[in-house]
Amino acid sequence: MTRQRFSPPGQLGRRAVITGVGGLGYEAALGLAKAGAEVILAGRNEEKGMVALTALRAAVPGAGVEFERLDLACLQSVNDFAERMKVRGEPIDILINNAGIMSPPDRQSSADGYELQFAVNYLGHFALTDWLMPLLRSRSGARVVSVTSLAQHYAKLDLDEAPNPRDYRAGAAYCVSKLLIAMFAVELQRRCDDNGWSVASLAAHPGFAGTGLFRTGGKFSNFISSRLLVPLIGQSAADGALPLLFAATAPNAVGGRLYGPKGFKEMRGQPGECRFAPPVYDARAATELWERSEALIGAGACRS
Ligand SMILES: NC(=O)c1ccc[n+]([C@@H]2O[C@H](COP(=O)([O-])OP(=O)(O)OC[C@H]3O[C@@H](n4cnc5c(N)ncnc54)[C@H](OP(=O)(O)O)[C@@H]3O)[C@@H](O)[C@H]2O)c1
Repeated sequence: MTRQRFSPPGQLGRRAVITGVGGLGYEAALGLAKAGAEVILAGRNEEKGMVALTALRAAVPGAGVEFERLDLACLQSVNDFAERMKVRGEPIDILINNAGIMSPPDRQSSADGYELQFAVNYLGHFALTDWLMPLLRSRSGARVVSVTSLAQHYAKLDLDEAPNPRDYRAGAAYCVSKLLIAMFAVELQRRCDDNGWSVASLAAHPGFAGTGLFRTGGKFSNFISSRLLVPLIGQSAADGALPLLFAATAPNAVGGRLYGPKGFKEMRGQPGECRFAPPVYDARAATELWERSEALIGAGACRS
């Protein structure tokens, strides 16, 4: 029997911030806008942001969608974005930490001097969530969804090496960044529980979805992007966004859990609960990661 395709329940009156305007970010925005949410798409490229808004407005006439500039590879840009949100003073119901890069073949650094995948996929989102927390906490039942990957299962965790690995290996650094964001999601839930905040933190992974992620020019990503592979074992970007939408809106999605496709090898299919990689369940490592991350972003810089 085929399971019914997940579709978010009504989101009228809810406001969502999604990082990344292409691929899964666009599809998640479309799903939320169709359900009636106001959506702020946050990305580094204004031109792409405008293209996404035009497409969203064509698909959902009257949609409440906006673009805001955010470069996750620059903590000052994250800070500026969070400040603009705070000046607006509007509560945030859903934050989807989605934007990401995969395996640039040569080592690149963020504006703050960290390995680029660590900076964009993990640290920028850590800072963003921390700095938007007052707006999330001002709304009962807010959710933070952090996008991880099956790659978390292949990561070798080394907290000393993660911000700036001595030997850069593109695929390995990607796996680590996706493990760290999963650890963050679970630790954030722990902290929400401990502090009595009515915010849920969930993780989602899209399986293997046909997006721009694999077009980085490296051997690893070029191989994966083979036009044969996605149709064979993966799924469309729209289907890849379903676990994100499920985590963000399903009444039965629970904080501290991971949602992903439940079909073949978790690469395709309808969303359901999945298991994290073992290090995600290591509370001591997660606490240490959190404390180190706070030190890296200069905790409190934007929390007024
Ligand atoms: N597709 C998959 O099969 C798959 C599998 C597992 C996990 N994921 C995860 O899913 C998430 C979304 O990826 P995707 O598949 O949708 O890939 P995508 O089509 O390449 O989209 C990634 C988005 O992130 C944005 N981005 C990159 N660097 C940024 C920065 N410094 N600041 C702000 N935005 C930035 C990109 O903007 P530009 O267009 O300006 O570069 C793009 O909009 C990522 O976290 C990825 O790791 C995807």
